[in-house]
Amino acid sequence: MKTLRKWGSVNIGLRLAYGGLGLALAAVLVSLGVGQEARAAQAGCAIASAHPLATDAGCEILAQGGNAFDAAVAVTAALAVVEPYSSGLGGGGFYLLHRADDGFQVFVDARETAPAQADAAKFLDEDGKPVADRSLRGATAAGIPGIPAALQHITQRYGSLPLKQTLAPATRLAQQGFEADARYVRASGWMVDVLKRDPATAAIFLRDGAPAQGGELIRQPQLAATLRTIAAEGSRAFYHGPVAEEMVRAVRENGGFWTQADLAHYRVVEREPLRFRYRGAIITTAPLPSSGGLVMAQTLQILDALDAGALPPDTRLHVTIEAMRRAYNDRARFMGDADFVDVPVARLASAEYARRRAKSIDLERATPSADLPSIYDVAEEGEETTHFSIVDGEGNRVAATLSVNGPFGAGLVAGSTGVLLNNHMDDFAIALAAPNLYKLVGNAANAIEPGKRPLSSMSPTFVEDERGVLVLGTPGGSRIISMVMIGIIDYMAGGQVDAQRIVGLPRYHHQYLPDRIQVEPGGFDDEWIAALRRRGHTVEVYRRKWGNMQAVFVDSKSGKREVANDPRGREGVVF
Ligand code: DON
Repeated sequence: MKTLRKWGSVNIGLRLAYGGLGLALAAVLVSLGVGQEARAAQAGCAIASAHPLATDAGCEILAQGGNAFDAAVAVTAALAVVEPYSSGLGGGGFYLLHRADDGFQVFVDARETAPAQADAAKFLDEDGKPVADRSLRGATAAGIPGIPAALQHITQRYGSLPLKQTLAPATRLAQQGFEADARYVRASGWMVDVLKRDPATAAIFLRDGAPAQGGELIRQPQLAATLRTIAAEGSRAFYHGPVAEEMVRAVRENGGFWTQADLAHYRVVEREPLRFRYRGAIITTAPLPSSGGLVMAQTLQILDALDAGALPPDTRLHVTIEAMRRAYNDRARFMGDADFVDVPVARLASAEYARRRAKSIDLERATPSADLPSIYDVAEEGEETTHFSIVDGEGNRVAATLSVNGPFGAGLVAGSTGVLLNNHMDDFAIALAAPNLYKLVGNAANAIEPGKRPLSSMSPTFVEDERGVLVLGTPGGSRIISMVMIGIIDYMAGGQVDAQRIVGLPRYHHQYLPDRIQVEPGGFDDEWIAALRRRGHTVEVYRRKWGNMQAVFVDSKSGKREVANDPRGREGVVF
């Protein structure tokens, strides 16, 4: 089977297709020049994930009769093993679910929470400046993980198979090991100095203190044991008892602030997804504590208000950037965990507000970000991360974006549990106007408070119109939101949907501060860039491409499912 394998969408369905009757179908599709992803989807397994072994795990579960939600559990757990630099049991994430039976949709929020003993002062030096190491490296950087609770929650409420079955592929991969691929080698190369700080962590992810070579086997028997415990006893065994005690011991021994109570109090929260209309499509996406939905709602509704589709291409691009600038400005000013702070959600999401914001856009000139309301102005109102998309044969859907934040998260495994800790404390605004890893700024709305969830940009999304439904998302920090929007804008430009093209589109990004447009190298020609500069924009061609979008498109007429993996993932580009 290995020779048939193509990035993240190789699957059991394809194997079945190459068995008996499927052979003819596969042959026809090959002769039609249909890509392997498409063939895979037709053969019954529509999963786009960032790693072929994780896709395999999900397809295995679908083939055993599981639904999309069971497959999501299997893919999550497998990614925790084979993409440890992106997501894991020690991290968090968001799942957007659609149940075909009754059309029920829900956003499962498994974001990490701040430990009760964490306060901003613990992340600042004597001069009140953030110490990056404390929110990014080691035990202090880690929020209370949400993924184990999500595995159990999704299984109990929406799944049809027991955790014992859905966690089996991941447990096997952790026990037997997986081969380091180009992305693993690259991510562990970036983080080698951090991973080396703890000998036990280095022993798992490095080889004699150096990054593993491609093809070397990465085995995680301790993580396999933790997975087995969760499979047998449920996620309670992660948040209580020996596993929890060992994690708290290790975190505290390394200077962190976790307590048993923090773990015991962790809860997944079901939230109403954020919905809005854009050019006649219904966009269903992430509510707070992700900023993704609100930033997209404002940006895209500004484009609608300006009838951007009718503008000349240069002007359309300019107003798209200006709309992003304003929406990210509001991210910095207003957004945080709405369970803790008042965020004017209804206003920020409304078409009326977008129309007002649109009026401040000069069609010819860039607005300097310094001229927008600052983050001090709260007015009167108060390598890595991963995404996968799944659609099963019944039409159940999952879009999930999961993360340990930076590559290999905090770079510390919690004692003997094999659980690699996240560094999501850095997603809080540690001090006013102090940029985080993604150069995002914020204010009191996103300040650290015990039990609070740090503001995120992760945006699992459904786009639905009469042509079908596009299930999509990507990693990429603050740029997640602009990437998803570029995908939506292209989808809504009309015509034949080509999911593979959408995930490969060249990307640009503006996030209010820093006041510059970032563009992917090779993505745009000189004239395109010059036109933006003429309007007063600063354009920075970034040193590498970004994102790893995973999408599934279901055509409403034919029922055909197209699976699309970002070509950047294949190229080993992860950020
Ligand atoms: O929640 C967030 O917005 C970030 N912690 C996501 C991090 C990420 O996407 C890193 N990926 N390259």
